[in-house]
Parts: sequence; C-alpha cells; structure tokens
Amino acid sequence: MNIIEVIELSYSYPDGTEALRGVSFRVAEGRSLALIGRNGAGKSTLLLHLNGIFGGSGAVRFRGTPIEELPAAQLRASVGLVFEDPSDQLFMPTVLDDVTFGPLNMGLTPEEAEARARESLASVGAEHLAPRAPHHLSAGQMRRVALASVLVMGPEVLVLDEPVAGLDPEGREAVIELLAGLTQTKIIATHDLDLVAQLCDEALVSDDGRAHAQGPARELLTDEPLLRAHGLRVPPSLRSLPTSPSPKSLVSED
Ligand SMILES: Nc1ncnc2c1ncn2[C@@H]1O[C@H](COP(=O)(O)OP(=O)(O)OP(=O)(O)O)[C@@H](O)[C@H]1O
Ligand SMILES: [Mg+2]
Repeated sequence: MNIIEVIELSYSYPDGTEALRGVSFRVAEGRSLALIGRNGAGKSTLLLHLNGIFGGSGAVRFRGTPIEELPAAQLRASVGLVFEDPSDQLFMPTVLDDVTFGPLNMGLTPEEAEARARESLASVGAEHLAPRAPHHLSAGQMRRVALASVLVMGPEVLVLDEPVAGLDPEGREAVIELLAGLTQTKIIATHDLDLVAQLCDEALVSDDGRAHAQGPARELLTDEPLLRAHGLRVPPSLRSLPTSPSPKSLVSED
C-alpha cells in the first residue's frame, strides 16, 4: 500500500518562483525514499507539502486520503517533518520543553510527556542537552534535538530534510544507524549520497521542480550520465574505479 502519494504537485512562491512543476511519486509503507538533486531543485519545497505546511495545486494523499481532509494535528503527528534548518523547529526556552511540547499537546500528562521526551532525546544521544536553550546549541546538536522532537510523536512517516548536514562524522554515523533501526516509512532529502546508498531502497532525482527519475537507489546512484545531467555524482562508496585526478592534471598547462 502507498502510504504517501503525490500527484502532479505544482507550487510557486509568492515572488513568482516556480519551485514545483507537476511532481508525482509514491512511497509504499515501510520503504525509504531518497530525494536527491542539485541546490534549488525543489526538494525542501516538496517536503513542506507532505504534512500540509504548504499547499500547492495537485494532490498529496496519506493512506489514500487527500491530506486537506485530515485534521492538521493528526497529519502532523503521523507525517513527522524535520526541517532543513532545525532552528525553525525549536522555539521553547529549553530543549526538554521543546521535545515535551508535542506529547503535551496530544494530551499526555506532564509526567508521561517528560518521560517520552527524555527517552526520545536519549535515542538521538542528546539527553544531556535537556536543560539547554535550543538557540544556544551547535548546528549538529540542534539537528539531533529537532529529530527527537519529531520522533517523540511516533510518526508513521518520517520526512527528513538534510538529516546529517553539519554533523561530525561520528554524529553522522549515529544518525544513520538510528534511522536504519527505525521501521517507519522514510522520505529523506539529502546531498549525502553515501547515506542514500546505506539507507534508502529507492531514490527520486529532482531538478528544476520536476521529478526526473524514480527507481531502486542502487541503480540510480550508479547511473553516472543521469546523475551528471542533474548536477550529481556517483557517491564514493559506489565508485568502482578510483577517480582521483592524476598529479599531471593539477599542473596548469601553459
Ligand atoms: N521563500 C522563498 N521564496 C521564493 N523562492 C524560494 C523560497 N524558498 C525557496 N525558493 C526557491 O524555490 C526553488 C526550490 O528551492 P528548495 O529550497 O525547495 O530547493 P532544494 O532542492 O531544497 O535546494 P537545496 O539543495 O539547496 O536545499 C529555488 O529556486 C529557490 O530559490
Ligand atoms: Mg533544501
């Protein structure tokens, strides 16, 4: 069953920029789809449509129901979106308040909400950040807390915009391991194509507001002409031949 279906979605920003031009794709329950594409391709704009933050023309369906027919709170709990800029997501005085906010709004008691929040923070290795002010965190710390604030809601679909951008190598690996252990359906926009190779079943190449190809991640990630045509490169982990330049090519030829 397709848990998310996007049909002919188009969206222009108020200044007239056409960010999406008829994008269609489907994600089956439990699968992991990567959205890949050059800067400005429309990936973040697309993700913001999946839980109703933006509303373009065309259709977005969750389990077959057009999302505008679902109660907003239910949709946002079911389709959890971690923003590209985590500071857009965190607005409370402390990290713990931020991660407790959603469960409290769902009607849990303060004790239950706090217990869940602490558990969720621990799952992303951020329990020690609980008393800190979100806007004083480093970029990587903020990203983990934003992820915890979404995981705490127990989403059925996890939508992640650049989940490892700005993380140190250990933090990147920890997030990849964490995501690999989650059974939810995942939709991940990223420039980290090695992460895609590790985590995603399928990939969708977006460019210029359109979907140019969707297929098994391994197939698309090794399709050099396709990737190059859209500003991408085969990731190091999937390159069969070394591609480092010969020393000669580093010397200017005059
Ligand atoms: N608030 C905005 N107002 C006007 N245009 C915008 C706005 N946000 C994004 N855009 C434009 O919409 C298009 C798609 O942007 P988007 O952020 O979705 O791309 P992206 O694929 O996520 O890029 P990146 O890889 O850099 O994150 C771009 O042309 C961008 O300039
Ligand atoms: Mg983006």
